[in-house]
Amino acid sequence: MVILQTPKQFQQYRRTIPHGQSVGFVPTMGALHAGHAELLKRSAAENQVTILSIFVNPKQFGPREDFQKYPRPFEADLDIAEACGVSAVFSPSVADFYPDSFSTYVEENALSKPLCGAFRPGHFRGVTTVVLKLFNVVRPNRAYFGLKDAQQFFVIKKMVEDLNLDLEIKGVPTVRENDGVALSSRNRYLSSEERERAPMIFKTLTRARDQILSGADPAKVCCEQIAVLEQNGFRVQYFEYWPQGRVLAAAAYLGITRLIDNVLIETTKQTRVSEASPESTI
Ligand code: PAF
Repeated sequence: MVILQTPKQFQQYRRTIPHGQSVGFVPTMGALHAGHAELLKRSAAENQVTILSIFVNPKQFGPREDFQKYPRPFEADLDIAEACGVSAVFSPSVADFYPDSFSTYVEENALSKPLCGAFRPGHFRGVTTVVLKLFNVVRPNRAYFGLKDAQQFFVIKKMVEDLNLDLEIKGVPTVRENDGVALSSRNRYLSSEERERAPMIFKTLTRARDQILSGADPAKVCCEQIAVLEQNGFRVQYFEYWPQGRVLAAAAYLGITRLIDNVLIETTKQTRVSEASPESTI
């Protein structure tokens, strides 16, 4: 496994990959866990070459968010990468990737607006900008994203479609702990007491999904589950059905830790959530 730091070094390495070999790419901010390992393994199974990027992207963090304290266990990340069959790691410094003269941004202006977009201004602009830059350096045939960040997945897919990028975007199901908590690099911020309460997000989402699929009013169901979370000390930002992704999605703070999660809502003949609530939010 080779480790390359500057975009130029990586581009030189990229030219050594033979034309016929497919390149799978997993962009990350490091602090890898079993969810990332799943993305890497999918890529390694479907491509001859798998590239991992590790870059904590300052442009997707708000001024009061956790950019400085975001975990950076680089050596442990390399061990996981090696075990998952990664051929090369691209890990630029902030100065390598965003020189002082940097002045070009990419923005998706529809799917990025609700949910996290409403609470984290500039977040998705930072994500699409860095992901497009990474795609341009890595030139993958396929790129893999976790569906825990469902909105990010759809925003990136839309950017790829709108800008005619020649690659496939693959979504990989969320990996969960036994108690339902979605794996996230930020889970390590939780105190042990908060960690015990964390499964409530997935529990309330699945309960709401089941009730909606049995015909209950989505708006009422979401309000009830928000109340349950708030009674248990969560500060809920949103808990709503997002028709564009066909997911019920939630974001809530537990102490200082912001957790997000979602569950897919399969529409059936009996219950079509999008018909029950034709507007884009419940
Ligand atoms: O999902 C993430 O880890 C980040 O948002 C990404 C896609 C690597 C861009 O920085």
